[in-house]
Amino acid sequence: MKKTIGLLIGLSLGCLLANAQQKQSADKSKSMDAFITSLMSKMTLEEKIGQLNLVTPGGGILTGAVVSQGVEENIVKGNVGGMFGIIGTEKIRKAQELAVNKSRLKIPMLFGSDVIHGYKTTFPIPLGLSASWNLDLIEKSAQLAGNEASADGLNWVFSPMVDIARDPRWGRIAESSGEDPYLGALIAKAMVRGYQGDNTYAGNDKLMACVKHFALYGAAEAGRDYNAVDMSHQKMYEFYFPPYKAAVEAGVGSVMSSFNEVDGVPATGNKWLLTDVLRKQWGFKGMVTSDYTSVNEMIPHGMGNLQEVSALAVKAGMDMDMVGEGFLTTLKKSVTEGKVSVADIDLSCRRILEAKYKLGLFTNPFKFIDEQRSAKEVLNPALRNFAREAATKSFVLLKNKDQVLPLKKSGAIALIGPLADSKRNMLGTWAVSGDWQTSVSVLEGLKNATGNKAKVLYAKGANISNDTGFAHRVNTFGVEIEIDKRSPQQMLDEALSIAKQADVIVAAVGEAADMSGEAASRTAIDIPESQRDLLAALVKTGKPVVLVLFNGRPLTLGWENENVNAILDVWFGGHEAGNAIADVLFGDYNPSGRLTATFPRNVGQIPIYYNHKITGRPYDNNNRFTSKYLDLPDNSPLYPFGYGLSYTTFSYGDVKIDKASIKKGESIKVKVDVKNTGNYDGVETVQLYVQDLVASIAPVSKKLKGFQQISLKKGESKTVEFTITEQDLRFYNANLQYVSEPGEFKVFVGANSRNVKEAQFSLK
Ligand code: BGC
Repeated sequence: MKKTIGLLIGLSLGCLLANAQQKQSADKSKSMDAFITSLMSKMTLEEKIGQLNLVTPGGGILTGAVVSQGVEENIVKGNVGGMFGIIGTEKIRKAQELAVNKSRLKIPMLFGSDVIHGYKTTFPIPLGLSASWNLDLIEKSAQLAGNEASADGLNWVFSPMVDIARDPRWGRIAESSGEDPYLGALIAKAMVRGYQGDNTYAGNDKLMACVKHFALYGAAEAGRDYNAVDMSHQKMYEFYFPPYKAAVEAGVGSVMSSFNEVDGVPATGNKWLLTDVLRKQWGFKGMVTSDYTSVNEMIPHGMGNLQEVSALAVKAGMDMDMVGEGFLTTLKKSVTEGKVSVADIDLSCRRILEAKYKLGLFTNPFKFIDEQRSAKEVLNPALRNFAREAATKSFVLLKNKDQVLPLKKSGAIALIGPLADSKRNMLGTWAVSGDWQTSVSVLEGLKNATGNKAKVLYAKGANISNDTGFAHRVNTFGVEIEIDKRSPQQMLDEALSIAKQADVIVAAVGEAADMSGEAASRTAIDIPESQRDLLAALVKTGKPVVLVLFNGRPLTLGWENENVNAILDVWFGGHEAGNAIADVLFGDYNPSGRLTATFPRNVGQIPIYYNHKITGRPYDNNNRFTSKYLDLPDNSPLYPFGYGLSYTTFSYGDVKIDKASIKKGESIKVKVDVKNTGNYDGVETVQLYVQDLVASIAPVSKKLKGFQQISLKKGESKTVEFTITEQDLRFYNANLQYVSEPGEFKVFVGANSRNVKEAQFSLK
C-alpha cells in the first residue's frame, strides 16, 4: 500500500514537472513568436531577404570558385544573415559590431564554421572516430569541439556530416561514419547532443549544429563527387535517411542541403525533400541552408537562370543561400513579378531569426565572443589529451601475423615512409582551423615513447606519389605530397641501409591528407605505386614489416595483406596522431577499432557493403550462373564491416535465445558468452545483426541492430545480453510504412559482420 502511494506521488510529481516544462516551453515559444513578429513588422522586404544571405569573406577554406565581395558594406545595409570562414574573437567581434551597431535593425549575425573533427584541436577524421564504435567518445568529441569553437566566437557548426557512404572512391567517405544506417543514426544523435547539449543554449558553450548533406550525397554515381544520384524511395528511407532523421529527432537546429539531385531535382530546390520529408514527415522546425553556391549550381544542373533557381529553392523550403547571393540579387524581382510570395520570404526569414533567438543572440549578440574564455579554452592541453585518447581508440588492427605487434621498446626500429615525418599530413581533410605545424608526427611519437630505450632510425624511402600532376591536384591547400629532390632510387637506398640495421621495420605509408575529402574522388584506391615499390623492397629484406596505414577511405590492400606482417589502420588521427600511434604500436593501448566501411579486394567490387540484397541467384561456387565475378574466388570483401583485430583473441559461445517466438510488445533476450582467450586485456565490440527471412520487400543479408563494447581481462569471460523487440524487425514497405511482418528471423552475434553465430526465431 505504502509503495503504491509512493508510486502515485512519484507519478503525479513527474506529471506536474512535465506539465510545468511543457508550459514553460510553450511560454518561451510564445514570447519568441511575439518578438519576431514585432521585429519583422519593422523589416523591409530587402532586409528580410538580407537575413537569407550567408557569406564568407575568405580566409577560411574555399571550396567553391567565388568568395563574397563587399561584405562589410553588405552587413551595414542589413544584407547579411550569417557568416562563415571567419575565425577568432577579434574578427568575429568586429563583424558582429558592424551588424548590431551599424545596421538599421541591429540584427545579430550567425557565425558558422566547418568544425568537422575538432576545431583548433583536431581529433581523428570522422570515419576513424566512427571506427571506435564508442558513442560516448564521439559525443564528447563533438562536445569538446563545440565548446572550443564557441569559446572562439562561433555559434554554429556545419556538422555532423552523416551521409551514408558505400563507395570508397568517393573522397568524402572520410567525413562520414561509413556505410551503416543504424550506427550512423546513433552517431548523428550523439554528435547533435555533443554540440547542442539539451538544446536550450542556456550557457555559451553549446552552439547550433547543422546536419548535412541532405540528402543522399554519399551515393554519387561512380563515387565521383557532386555527381548525380538516383535511387528508389524504399532504399532512401531504409538505408540513407535514418541518420538525417535521427539528427532531426535529436533536435538539430539546422540542416544543409546537398549538391546532388534527388529524383531528378537538385536537393537545394527539391520541395519533396526539404518540405514534405524534412518538415511534414519528420517535423523539423529549424532552418535549412544551401551548400556552398548550391543554389547557383542549379543553373548548370539545367534548372534555369539565377532568378529561376533562386525562386525554386526558396519555394522548396530553402532558407539560407550560402555564398552564391542568388537570393540577395533576385528574390525581390521575383516577388515583384509574382513568382515568389512575401509569405515565402517571411517563412525563411522567420526561421533564421528563430535560430538567432534560440541561441540567445538577441539578448546578447556577443554571448559567444569572450576573449578571456577564448584564451583559456582554445587549444587547452586537456583537448590534446582527449585527441590522443580518441585517436588510439579509432585505430583498426587489420593484420597481425605471428603477433609481431605490439613492439618492444628496445633494439632498433627503422621507421620508413613518406608519412613518417610529416606533420603536414596528420590532421586529415577538413581540419580547417587546425594548425598542422603543432601536430605530432609518427617519428616524434615513437621517439617520445621510447626515449633512450630503443633506437629509432628514420628514412623517407619514397614520395607519397611520384606523379607531379597528381601531387599538384592534391596540394590545393598546401604541400602534402612533397616530391623529393632525390631520385626514388636514392631514397630507396637510404631506406634499405637503415632497414638493415633494424630489428623491425615500421612503414608509414598511404594517402596524403587531402587525397580524401571533398573533390577527392579516386578511380584506383590503392597505395600509390611509389610507396608500393618501397614496401616491396622492404618486404624483400626479410625483416618483419609493420604497416602504419594513413587513409581517409577504405583502400584496396590485397598485396599488402599478403605480404606484410602487420597492418595498423590509423586513418588521420589529428593533432596527437604520432603519440597515439606509438601508444598502440607499443601496446600501451590494445587496439579496439572496428571498420565501419567495407574494404574491397578491388575497385570492381564497388559498391560493396555488408547489408546487401541476396539476389535470386546467391553466390554458389559450384554453379556458374550465380551472382559473382569470373575473376574473383568469391564475393567476400578483403575486410568486412565490423572487422578489426586486437592483441588478444576473443572466443564466442553459441547464441542463446530465451524464446523461439515473440508477439508485438514482447521481446527476446539474446545471450552470448565472450571470453578473452589471449594474452592481453582487451576491448571487444560484440555485434548483433538480424535478418528477415521472408518479407514483402526482398530483405537484405543482415542488419546491425545492436552492439556492446566490453572490456575483458586476460582469461576473463562475460555474458553479453541483447534484447530484440518487434521494432528491431521493422523495415520500410512498398508504401514506405515502417512495419514488421510476421515470419521467421535470424539473429547473428559475433565479432564482425561475417564472423557470427546464429539462432532463429519467429514473429507471430
Ligand atoms: C561543403 C560543405 C561545407 C561548405 C562550407 C562545401 O563545399 O560541401 O560540407 O560545409 O562547403 O565550407
